[in-house]
Amino acid sequence: MKLKMLASVAIAAIALPVMAADVTYRKDIAPMFKKYCAECHSAAAGSPSMAEFKLDEERYAKKEKVGPLSDTYEHLLQLVNGNSTGALMRRLDDGTNPFAKGKPGNMYKYLCEKDNKDNNAECAANLKVIKAWVVGEGNEWDLNGIGQRGDMPPVSLEQLRRIKAKY
Ligand code: HEC
Repeated sequence: MKLKMLASVAIAAIALPVMAADVTYRKDIAPMFKKYCAECHSAAAGSPSMAEFKLDEERYAKKEKVGPLSDTYEHLLQLVNGNSTGALMRRLDDGTNPFAKGKPGNMYKYLCEKDNKDNNAECAANLKVIKAWVVGEGNEWDLNGIGQRGDMPPVSLEQLRRIKAKY
């Protein structure tokens, strides 16, 4: 009897998802952003802060081709639950969120290396980690922003409280 119980505990442990431990900015997200996003979203790339970016989005986005700074935890949070709430989720969604209507966000493709032939699997695996960081593994994230966006209502306090984004 005891043995049987032990065996089922062992099986349950094996069946645990890969990301059993908490996903954190320091351990998982910072290295990923360095690898895939820093090229256009870092001090080294000449990225402006979010406030500065919003002052002259046209110039930064179209001429200089850089996005807002997101190479520190605090700057990245601007895109999660700060000044540009939901931006990270909208830009990285693979198109499966109901509000994305089948269209992946325009930064999703950067979640895979350019020369990787198995792009989809790499992008999907990285997206899974980022989603787990934002709302916990297996949960669907919210794309809602501060204001109404088309048929998507503004973010609610309840949605903001779901955000984990652990340092
Ligand atoms: C080759 C350059 C490049 C790479 C690589 C890149 N981005 Fe961007 N990103 C931009 C530019 C330029 C903009 C501004 C234009 C726009 O909004 O599309 C932007 C905008 C964004 C925005 C919207 C910010 C806002 O508030 O409007 C988010 C979120 C974002 N990027 C996330 C990412 C993430 C996450 C990665 C890495 C997986 C990434 N980007 C990789 C160039 C890049």
